[in-house]
Amino acid sequence: MEHLQLRAFPSNFLWGSASAAYQIEGAWNEDGKGKSVWDEFVTIPGKTYKGTNGAVAVDHYHRWKEDIQLMKEQGLKAYRFSVAWTRILPQGRGEVNKKGLQFYIDLVEELLANGIEPVLTLYHWDLPLALQEEYGGWENRKIIDDFVNYAEILFHTFRDKVNYWVSLNEQNVFTHQGWQIATHPPGKKDPQLFYNVNHIANLANAKVIQKFKEMAMPGKIGPSFAYTPQYAIDSDPKNILAAENAEELLANFWMDVYVYGEYPSVVLRYLKEQGITIDIRPGEMALLRSAKPDFLGLNYYQSATNAWNPLDGIANGDHYQMNTTGKKGTAVESGVPGVQKTVNNPFVETTNWDWTIDPIGLRIALRRMNSRYRLPILITENGLGEYDKLEDGEIHDSYRIDYLRQHVQAIQEAISDGVEVIGYHTWSFTDLLSWLNGYQKRYGFVYVDQDESMEGSLQRIPKDSYYWYKQVIQSNGKIL
Ligand code: BG6
Repeated sequence: MEHLQLRAFPSNFLWGSASAAYQIEGAWNEDGKGKSVWDEFVTIPGKTYKGTNGAVAVDHYHRWKEDIQLMKEQGLKAYRFSVAWTRILPQGRGEVNKKGLQFYIDLVEELLANGIEPVLTLYHWDLPLALQEEYGGWENRKIIDDFVNYAEILFHTFRDKVNYWVSLNEQNVFTHQGWQIATHPPGKKDPQLFYNVNHIANLANAKVIQKFKEMAMPGKIGPSFAYTPQYAIDSDPKNILAAENAEELLANFWMDVYVYGEYPSVVLRYLKEQGITIDIRPGEMALLRSAKPDFLGLNYYQSATNAWNPLDGIANGDHYQMNTTGKKGTAVESGVPGVQKTVNNPFVETTNWDWTIDPIGLRIALRRMNSRYRLPILITENGLGEYDKLEDGEIHDSYRIDYLRQHVQAIQEAISDGVEVIGYHTWSFTDLLSWLNGYQKRYGFVYVDQDESMEGSLQRIPKDSYYWYKQVIQSNGKIL
């Protein structure tokens, strides 16, 4: 649709920015914090770019006041951050570590005092190592009670302070990378286990939402999903079918469970043919159906394009390689025989890390989610990971401004189409550790002097994009 006139952003639109504990905090063993699976995983040679880790990260644990001051000066309306479970419960359960909890109490107070709405993510991948070692973490149903117990502590603590809660961040990413392609902890490749782990994560997500409702929490809660809308390379019906397959397996398979408590029948039948059965126990589907989120969190970075891939076609298997080096063109074509293969889209550009740049894809994502689920959508992540160059103490990141401007425009178009979007969080506020890509893949509004040596001065310098977003917020999206 082309609109004669676009609708204005709602007056209470949450213009925000985001982060995650492991990627910014550092202080990995301070004030009683326990080890997370990431603290361990990064020590395995070859797992992260140049062996980078978040031991210091960008030292937000010590510089949070300075960071919030920068948010305030920018006029940020909302800030999404995650709590490190290991700061609250160093062993995953048991006694609360008061100093760890205090860090987040202070953070939330400071945000509120500066007029910034806290958006709290309960789980952004840093599982307590103790739970992994004791019973296999997400592989065991024991995690469900432990996760709910941890969440309950935060629900009690921030009941009247935090209005927006994200349950799990990108369940599709942490399960896929953890149990299908071994690039995240616990580094396994086990198709059957992957589906069981994912089911357990679904149960944990549902139980936490149920607890939230039981406690009559005043705020809203929902999961953040990494949705990559799937296109077909052309109108050949076979390619359209390939895109449908990808959409079922990579999107509906998660979001249908969140909203309807059901796995798509096409996926269940496909898995059966592969000899995979999800271990679903009595009463569990009823639990999934009972726990509906208040909103869907959308993490949008890119779209993907599909073509038909016959049974004897390409398989990603061991050949699949992500581009974690920033050398353009090094990502390898991937596919699942008999389902789809991912191909280049000639209509969109790509970043140096081979991620497509597709603002219309964001509008399409919002439209599809609205049409299938009819829930408000909170954009919990969107941004451009690129190299930045410090020139005479300044960063002129016009490419990031272009990227963000086009995505904000796409949101306004989607709102004009009739989609309810309640806020937009850019990824990220400061530069941070990009899990597998080191520090050189930068996302922030604020440059941080940190690199792969992990010995940077940690000085903060607002980039041009910081000032650009400031005027976007001030004008409520009128000046882009
Ligand atoms: C999302 C995550 O997958 O994308 C973030 O929630 C992550 O934690 C972001 O940093 C960008 O991905 P990457 O791999 O470029 O850091």
